[in-house]
Amino acid sequence: MTGLTVVIAGSSVIGHTHAGAILRHPGLRVAALADPDAQANDRLARWITEHGGPAPQRHDSLGEALAAGTVDLVAICTPSGLHAELAEQALAAGVHVLVEKPLDASLPAARRIAQAAAHVEASGQVCAVVCQHRFDPASVAVATRVRAGAFGRITSAVASVPWWRGQRYYDSAGWRGTWRQDGGGATMNQGVHTVDLLLWLLGHPEEVFAYTGATAHDRIEIEDVATATIRFASGALAVLHATTAAYPGLGVRLQVHGTQGSAVIHDDQLEYLHTADGPDPSAYAAGPDQSSAAVPESELRGAPKPAEAFVTGHLRQYQDMVDAIDTGRRPAVTTADALLAVAVVKTVYLSAYLHRPIQVPAVLAGEFDDVLATLESSAIPSTATTR
Ligand SMILES: NC(=O)c1ccc[n+]([C@@H]2O[C@H](COP(=O)([O-])OP(=O)(O)OC[C@H]3O[C@@H](n4cnc5c(N)ncnc54)[C@H](O)[C@@H]3O)[C@@H](O)[C@H]2O)c1
Repeated sequence: MTGLTVVIAGSSVIGHTHAGAILRHPGLRVAALADPDAQANDRLARWITEHGGPAPQRHDSLGEALAAGTVDLVAICTPSGLHAELAEQALAAGVHVLVEKPLDASLPAARRIAQAAAHVEASGQVCAVVCQHRFDPASVAVATRVRAGAFGRITSAVASVPWWRGQRYYDSAGWRGTWRQDGGGATMNQGVHTVDLLLWLLGHPEEVFAYTGATAHDRIEIEDVATATIRFASGALAVLHATTAAYPGLGVRLQVHGTQGSAVIHDDQLEYLHTADGPDPSAYAAGPDQSSAAVPESELRGAPKPAEAFVTGHLRQYQDMVDAIDTGRRPAVTTADALLAVAVVKTVYLSAYLHRPIQVPAVLAGEFDDVLATLESSAIPSTATTR
């Protein structure tokens, strides 16, 4: 299918990435922008025309954009606490929806949009959630081998998101660092991609035991560091570390281990892949030749990332979206997947709050919604003792 028209709702940081990906996709066009901030609309509209796209219409709200003309697809790029509300509005208007991660800041709202998406699925309406790292060649290479049984029995994983966000980041927009609009801190905003990859590779999570801390930032309600252990239904165990308080320069690292294979993905590139039926890992580590069968050389740890890398993941996700619309298949990342990732992050918060292991299925089912509401009604206490 060609010529799908897209409305981008939310014209700032990630709105630009969506525009960049859409500009590179031959079957998509940004028809309109919807943002109450007129200057944000103007900036993004100018950016699109400067990069060779047609000038989009500009609207104050998604409702106005939907009413103004034919729209095929809405990309929700607003603060996380508005995702479900706007996605529901778009689904009710009969259009396809791509929602930025996380599915929503609130677990009940995320549950609601997952139900709404399931309801319209039969009519061919596609609702997907951005998890662009599922499409990284390194992630695909590992997942393909895990699914094919090449890792044997998956035994454990270690995931670390050691990022830095200065105070200026949290001060840059009123929604950042709030329970209501951000839904959480380092684990929800920055870590949810890695949580999604863990679930994708290790299967259904059963239980979480976690600590969280507010260690290095002011005027935030949420955690800037979290550590958690996740037990999976298969028996596999994973360690999760997410922070926005790690002095900068480091990339996300994900290790996955099984009885027949191990892999390390670092900063979205493949650092290590050794399966019993694959090449010798010492040969693999020595150069790209042995590993080129797994991923292209550019996707190996240490290869320079091309300038357009910041949109490549989103472009791959848009391709998946277009294929799903064209063929009637499910998108690669469904609202059910994204709901589970939000539920696991909320289980991290609940476990830290209640100081005990918490069952993920109970959180998913809503048994802790009241506790979550209490927990999210006030800031988590600062755990810093010195600055
Ligand atoms: N996939 C990724 O890697 C990635 C990266 C960054 C951000 N995100 C996600 O994208 C979302 C936005 O993050 P951001 O950094 O671009 O935030 P931002 O603050 O830079 O931009 C949000 C924009 O939404 C607009 N907005 C607010 N209310 C609106 C409404 N009702 N309708 C339309 N627009 C509205 C704001 O005016 C602002 O321009 C968040 O949910 C975040 O988690 C994803």
